[in-house]
Amino acid sequence: MARPSTMNVVLIFSLSFMIMLSEFAIQSEGMSDYRSRSGKLSPNQRVQWRGDSGLQDGGDAGIDLTGGYYDAGDNVKFGFPMAFTISLLSWSNELLNALDAIQRGTDYLIKVHTQPNVLYGEVGDGNSDHACWQRPEDMTTPGTTYKIDEQHPGADLAGETMAPFAAASITFVPMDSNYSAQLLTHARQVYDFASLHRGQYQNSIPGAQKFYSSSGYELLMEDKFGDFYATAAQYQKQAEQFICNCLQKGDGNFHKTPGGLLWLQPWNNLQYTSTAAFVSAVNTKYIEKSQEKVGCPGDQAEPSELIAFAQSQAGYILEANPNNISYTVAYGSRYPTHVHHRGASIVLIKNGSAPVPCNQGYGLWLNRDAPDLNVLHGTIVGGPDRQDGYVDARMNYQQAKPTTINTAPLVGLLASLA
Ligand SMILES: *[C@@H]1O[C@H](CO)[C@@H](O)[C@H](O)[C@H]1NC(C)=O
Ligand SMILES: *[C@@H]1O[C@H](CO)[C@@H](O)[C@H](O)[C@H]1NC(C)=O
Ligand SMILES: *[C@@H]1O[C@H](CO)[C@@H](O)[C@H](O)[C@H]1NC(C)=O
Repeated sequence: MARPSTMNVVLIFSLSFMIMLSEFAIQSEGMSDYRSRSGKLSPNQRVQWRGDSGLQDGGDAGIDLTGGYYDAGDNVKFGFPMAFTISLLSWSNELLNALDAIQRGTDYLIKVHTQPNVLYGEVGDGNSDHACWQRPEDMTTPGTTYKIDEQHPGADLAGETMAPFAAASITFVPMDSNYSAQLLTHARQVYDFASLHRGQYQNSIPGAQKFYSSSGYELLMEDKFGDFYATAAQYQKQAEQFICNCLQKGDGNFHKTPGGLLWLQPWNNLQYTSTAAFVSAVNTKYIEKSQEKVGCPGDQAEPSELIAFAQSQAGYILEANPNNISYTVAYGSRYPTHVHHRGASIVLIKNGSAPVPCNQGYGLWLNRDAPDLNVLHGTIVGGPDRQDGYVDARMNYQQAKPTTINTAPLVGLLASLA
């Protein structure tokens, strides 16, 4: 078996993203970055309509678990998608604001990794959270903590958390070698934890299953190093097949809408599109450098085809689509104005309005017809249906919901195309 080239290794990393994607049957409301920040906000917080929230997190376990991100427009901190989001941001090589966003995530991941074999994987409870429509600042639902440890393992969650630790340790080398070394230590510890204590995390944290279940953990850990290259070759093959299917040159081509959007499912489809396009854009550079090609059935895919695909998907998301609508909020002349996000829909907290009680938010704010009061600049929503149709309604959670996991890949995609 030939030794995998640089390209192959990148494909392997890419594939691990894709595997993550298949795990996201998201069933909660969405949002990203500044809008989704939990804990104490820094003075340079760019979104002025958000305030501090979740300041007691970790209190039930006697530790400080404040900070990090909510997954979406709701008020639960799920560790699994948060780790994915921070990995993607670390790969995107963006500028200072992205570093700040990454560090907010990695600082939080350091907090939840309280001991080598203990990792807190959720703060808050999805079911009680989904019974309320409240700003995070007004949260009245319990911020209960849930963890994995040696007796209650979760190799998938620990492995997923290793990825942002490892990727960010590289990102921070030039700026802060001390922090970089600290992240690397955590990466090694969670890797060992994952290797030695197998099991799926949703069996240890059952409450996460309905929202972010995982499909398991990867083959690589099963093998000793001697078999690494054989396993890597398998990953490469799968990654190539995935790209071929995106380019409509594979054995199981993915559906594209009449307007040309990669479309996999009605619920939050743009998470797949933005990540597939990001993977294609990143791989283009490695393929060009190594002068290799992606072997699709019967034909090869040229680097120019990968980059054209990435550009077409970015273009569609930004406005080049049959509706002439940008699925990136506040970008372009037309964009979604009724997103499924609590903080965006409810009157500005700093306007001195009273706290919104748990269930009053539905009638007062969710079902209100008017456009969002607070604008989610730069986030992408779930996106159109398989025929390019889009309904801009706050209750349309399948299409109008923004999440951290569909916006983070877009950051990387635009950075690699820039
Ligand atoms: C590196 O980080 C550790 C832990 O935060 C700290 O105790 C130490 O003083 C730092 N060293 C330098 C050189 O910044
Ligand atoms: C979108 O823009 C194109 C080109 O300007 C125009 O022909 C088309 O009618 C527009 N479609 C919609 C739905 O507005
Ligand atoms: C804040 O209050 C001002 C003055 O009452 C009002 O004009 C504005 O629409 C409010 N903004 C938001 C986002 O609630």
